[in-house]
Amino acid sequence: MLFCSYVCLCFYLKNHFPTEPRPVLTVSPSWLSAGASVTLNCRVKDPSAGWRFYWYKAVPHLSDKSYRAELLPGSSSGTEQDSYIVHEFTAGYSCRAGRGDPEYSSEYSFSRYIWSADVHSSASLTVSPDRAQHFTSDSVSLSCEGNSAEWRVMRFSTEDRYYWSDCTTWRTMTGSTCHINTDRTSDAVYWCESGSGEFSNAVNITVQDGDMILLSPARPVTEGHSVSLSCKLRNITFDSIVFFYHNEKVIQNDSRWELKISAVSKSDEGFYKCQHSGRESAQSWMSVQVIPAVSRPDSSSFPVLLIVGLVCGIVLVIPLLVLFCYSASKSETFFFYYYVL
Ligand SMILES: *[C@@H]1O[C@H](CO)[C@@H](O)[C@H](O)[C@H]1NC(C)=O
Ligand SMILES: *[C@@H]1O[C@H](CO)[C@@H](O)[C@H](O)[C@H]1NC(C)=O
Repeated sequence: MLFCSYVCLCFYLKNHFPTEPRPVLTVSPSWLSAGASVTLNCRVKDPSAGWRFYWYKAVPHLSDKSYRAELLPGSSSGTEQDSYIVHEFTAGYSCRAGRGDPEYSSEYSFSRYIWSADVHSSASLTVSPDRAQHFTSDSVSLSCEGNSAEWRVMRFSTEDRYYWSDCTTWRTMTGSTCHINTDRTSDAVYWCESGSGEFSNAVNITVQDGDMILLSPARPVTEGHSVSLSCKLRNITFDSIVFFYHNEKVIQNDSRWELKISAVSKSDEGFYKCQHSGRESAQSWMSVQVIPAVSRPDSSSFPVLLIVGLVCGIVLVIPLLVLFCYSASKSETFFFYYYVL
């Protein structure tokens, strides 16, 4: 009898106060170039039943170490599919699942990031000195620039206890500049984010305690521009052969400590490293940003295009404004912390 009441109580509780686990958001791959898209997947433990999925962009909340979830377009009433395609990087994403009427909601998934090395003007991260590899005890600063007055510099590294941290965890932000800690070796992704949801290009930065590093640009090199990679020893330079490697193939083998590429093309993208009398630097990825060709309208069709543009603009803007107001009124707010205080 007692056992039966216990089972009944459990059954009752399970049905009336179900505890749905946190879904798991997966993204693959986590690094992307502009123009590409990536599919987010939201996995629930029990995928068979009638779940609906809600998709969010993580908007930084600068006053504390958190993010606010902003519903992504088309998911205000949930999607039937457990996947969602996004085109915006660098950015953080989260999902949640709900089912039943009234709807029972799961917790928000932990956020996942999709990083892009591509630089844009609304938010940009620069590394000084501009290189991907640094020696321990070097002075390295990261600066944010763009459409916002206030920024935080974020770092993601699997070597860190909580994976995510912001500049104030290891140093203080001076304006929009952060000095990274080079007391010990590290390998991490860095980016800037603002309270209005701008995310900068992301960079990989390695701090080495070895004798030799490769000096390669931390940010993408623009196609057609020249670039120079060089090899640096911590103390002195010896006069002997230096090998430069591109994707594990020797591309320069002489006494020059510098590798010059006079006009960079997409095929120069890849991993670089250098080697000198038995010492080898770590390798760094150099990315090449292709500037899309701008097609200018010719003068005769210009007024026509202007009128067509204006009409389309008005026709498009009004529904967008309505949609914006509608989604703003329905947007949900939640906060999640990336760092445990
Ligand atoms: C480097 O250059 C020398 C002389 O040109 C050549 O004999 C040697 O095989 C080269 N080494 C590599 C690894 O390419
Ligand atoms: C950064 O490092 C990761 C992991 O090594 C790599 O997959 C990614 O392509 C790198 N991105 C850039 C822009 O260097």
